[in-house]
Amino acid sequence: MADTPNSIKHVASPLARQTLLDDSLTRPVAGRRPIRILPWLQVVKIGGRAIMDRGAEAILPIVDELRKLLPEHRLLILTGAGIRARHLYSVGLDLGLPVGSLAPLAASEAGQNGHILASLLAPEGVSYVEHPTIANQLAIHLAAARAVVGSAFPPYHHHEFPGSRIPPHRADSGAFLVADALGAAGLTIVEDVDGLYTADPNGPDGAAARLIPETSAAELAGFAGTLPFDRVLVEIMANARHLERVQIVNGLVPGRLTAALRGEHVGTVIHTGARTS
Ligand SMILES: Nc1ncnc2c1ncn2[C@@H]1O[C@H](COP(=O)(O)OP(=O)(O)OP(=O)(O)O)[C@@H](O)[C@H]1O
Ligand SMILES: [Mg+2]
Repeated sequence: MADTPNSIKHVASPLARQTLLDDSLTRPVAGRRPIRILPWLQVVKIGGRAIMDRGAEAILPIVDELRKLLPEHRLLILTGAGIRARHLYSVGLDLGLPVGSLAPLAASEAGQNGHILASLLAPEGVSYVEHPTIANQLAIHLAAARAVVGSAFPPYHHHEFPGSRIPPHRADSGAFLVADALGAAGLTIVEDVDGLYTADPNGPDGAAARLIPETSAAELAGFAGTLPFDRVLVEIMANARHLERVQIVNGLVPGRLTAALRGEHVGTVIHTGARTS
């Protein structure tokens, strides 16, 4: 009995005796670049307000374009929440609902837009999948179909950060986070404007607004104006691990999304903080 080895109780781990809060101690283990889980995947975020809320006039041409892209790319198509979420925010805020209650409600609106888009692409084998499926079974779904549709909202839900009354992590942040985590080949954000402008082209100073064809997350950190995407995305892009660039394109112009997925520069390219090698 005295000879029984007790080594089974000792799990050798380089992190066992470290605080996980000290970067210099965890870097030898955690500093390596993560693997790309789906390196061939193209993620496309379709604007809720920019595209879906416009109805058939905007949705049918983009569905047609997506359909034609299927033989060329394997797609994760993620939809934003649009006007219904904005109405929900106003009612919820009037009632005093906390941000953690508003986030899942808005996410369900993004999901509704996804269901609409997936129904139109169903003849091509495309279906709507929920977040747990995106997290765990995307590979099998994309082995069976060329694309799947999901909600672009990240599932922070009741854990949403309480810094603002409106959920800061919305569809653009959600699309970026999942694309970067999967090590996707690209993320294209589909808007109703040609890209990022110096000021809102549809706002009071719109006449003087100029298109910014190329910029970086670092440059945008000091951008004081409004943005056509979640402001927190700037910070998230700065810390990206895989995605080196994001392109914002106008989905109301036929062919722009197709060109962007072929690597052409047809909107605003934003360089992230991801290392290029
Ligand atoms: N600096 C800017 N450059 C370009 N567009 C801007 C800028 N600031 C504001 N916008 C506006 O953002 C609008 C797009 O709105 P928004 O991004 O909220 O829609 P969306 O992406 O469809 O939203 P969601 O998917 O979250 O519902 C554009 O039509 C434009 O008027
Ligand atoms: Mg937008």
